[in-house]
Amino acid sequence: MIDQLATIEDEARAALTSVQTLDDLIAWRSQWLGKKSTLATLSQQIGKLPADQRPVFGQRFGAVRAALTELDATTEARLQAAKLHEELEEDSIDVTLPGRQVPVGRLHVSTRSLRRIQAIFAEMGFQVWESREVESDEYNFGLLNMPEHHPARDMWDTFYVKSSDPEHKVVLRTHTSPGQIHAMRALHPHPIRMILPGKCYRYEPVTARSEMMFHQVEGIVVGQHITMTDLKGTLANFARRMFGAEAQVRFRPSYFPFTEPSVEVDVECFICGGAGCRVCKYTGWLEILGAGMVHPTVLRNGGYDPEQWSGFAFGMGPERQTMLLYGIDDIRWFFSNDARFRQQFG
Ligand code: DAH
Repeated sequence: MIDQLATIEDEARAALTSVQTLDDLIAWRSQWLGKKSTLATLSQQIGKLPADQRPVFGQRFGAVRAALTELDATTEARLQAAKLHEELEEDSIDVTLPGRQVPVGRLHVSTRSLRRIQAIFAEMGFQVWESREVESDEYNFGLLNMPEHHPARDMWDTFYVKSSDPEHKVVLRTHTSPGQIHAMRALHPHPIRMILPGKCYRYEPVTARSEMMFHQVEGIVVGQHITMTDLKGTLANFARRMFGAEAQVRFRPSYFPFTEPSVEVDVECFICGGAGCRVCKYTGWLEILGAGMVHPTVLRNGGYDPEQWSGFAFGMGPERQTMLLYGIDDIRWFFSNDARFRQQFG
């Protein structure tokens, strides 16, 4: 039996040489050290030995088992280390690789233009207000000096919203001007210096030059000695901040029902320098906004006595101004949501 122990040890050591993985080792362990191993069987037979041989056998048995157990442990440690090494190799990071670009959002070009316009007027001491997009016919037209059947209503093609009360017509605002009335009614009898940016809607075919939704920035100033000079100074200042310190402006007489007198403001074409080109339609000038002195009727509708108060107002389109600034030839780009267009800004 003692000889058998030696054979077991040799065989187990020999078998260990073909153990490559932890799974192999588990199989090896069960074969040579497990409950059904020859070693275990031998240990059960110890009682059959003559008593004087038992201590020697026992010692030898213990030594073999200890040696195999030790081998098992060192092999396991070696295989674990190898496995860890392999895993680390596989998961290793090559820090010399260039990083992946993280896509970052950006502001829509209309939002950027709106913010730029707001910042310019904020520096001039204007408050920023927002007014509603769904309006009553009265605010969109009537209170702005365009009673029902007034021919000037044709200037704006209107989306009418279904309303339960036929007497009370509801529209999507065709311009930001109704915000003037809301502002005056909220603030009278105090002076006002405010811009009102927001979306407007027009029932028009969508073409390169007109969208059915776009933004406007309305402005209104009401005080006790406001004159046309204030209007000209403020808007010329705006044009220079928006289009460059050299920008030349001109004020052309025009007509709006809610202002008297009314003007349109042009900036000298910065594409051709005034010489005449396709963008300015060979006039040398680009129209950037409409404005005027607030009509006495509109002041009265807002709660101000036109004998004591006066004011000026203006309205501009940030999409139109952006088109002029960047030479964009089709307004539909703004809301077509084409990433190639949007990514060029910001
Ligand atoms: N509401 C006008 C439009 O949509 C623009 C405008 C013109 C606004 C003159 C004004 C103004 O406040 O005084 O065409």
